[in-house]
Amino acid sequence: MIRTAAARLAEAGVGSPEHDALALLAHAWGRSVSDVRHAMVMGREPEPEVVERFTDMVDQRADRVPLQHLTGVAGFRGLELAVGPGVFVPRPETELLVDLVLDGLAPGALVVDLCTGSGAVPLAVKHERPDVEAYAVELDPLAFAWAERNRERLGLDVEMRCGAAQSAFPELDTMVDVVVSNPPYIPVGMEPVDPEVRDHDPEVALYGGSEDGLRIPLEVAARAWQLLPPGGRLVMEHADVQGDSLPSALRRAGWRDVADHRDLTGRPRAVTARRGQRG
Ligand SMILES: C[S@@+](CC[C@H](N)C(=O)[O-])C[C@H]1O[C@@H](n2cnc3c(N)ncnc32)[C@H](O)[C@@H]1O
Repeated sequence: MIRTAAARLAEAGVGSPEHDALALLAHAWGRSVSDVRHAMVMGREPEPEVVERFTDMVDQRADRVPLQHLTGVAGFRGLELAVGPGVFVPRPETELLVDLVLDGLAPGALVVDLCTGSGAVPLAVKHERPDVEAYAVELDPLAFAWAERNRERLGLDVEMRCGAAQSAFPELDTMVDVVVSNPPYIPVGMEPVDPEVRDHDPEVALYGGSEDGLRIPLEVAARAWQLLPPGGRLVMEHADVQGDSLPSALRRAGWRDVADHRDLTGRPRAVTARRGQRG
């Protein structure tokens, strides 16, 4: 059953067909992936209603509905986040942002996430460092509802607001230790190749508002400048093609100690910088 489903998903262009087929069967059967593997080895077959649910989900996955929309969850640094239509599915490469935030973070530090989506980044930071104060803002009310749902599910104390990153948390000006952001950064006019992204991630989560994709990221960085005192840290994700352009733009805007970082696959994916003195 798994082999047939995986072959079908491979034919539809799904990148990890066996993994996805197993995850879908586990979800349809209400078991863990390792339980499903064990059941398969023991020759145990699922009940007909489970097979029906599984077949329906394989059909949808073959139509390139994201796996996480079908299972309703996405893993992020050991947390299980609820996701679905209306919110950007958190990506493995974004886990790097959390490492960069945690690097040298002082006890009781104040961390603000601008453009939070499902709440993945601030919830992971708070989970791994319960002593910090974490804040998050999200523009899209649909995505914001998912972030709040995740905060309640996980029982983590992150202050969340629905609104624009460009004017978020005015009461925290110059008081923040680290501003982190995975803003929309895809160059306008560049359509993502994967149907899971193009057809299912909200547009507001994808496009950076200019031909180089940097308009919104630089507006977010400008807000970060106001939130941070001189020396305060910015951590921002970017597209792999922006590994030179974003650091250069930040240097021109007065940021110092600007450094770019690669993800586990070796692609440039995040920039760190310290607020300069000016302004
Ligand atoms: C690339 S997604 C990242 C979501 C989340 N941080 C993550 O890494 O999974 C960008 C998010 O920014 C939100 N967004 C777009 N423009 C915004 C703005 N001006 N202010 C606040 N949030 C914004 C989108 O709705 C989307 O949820």
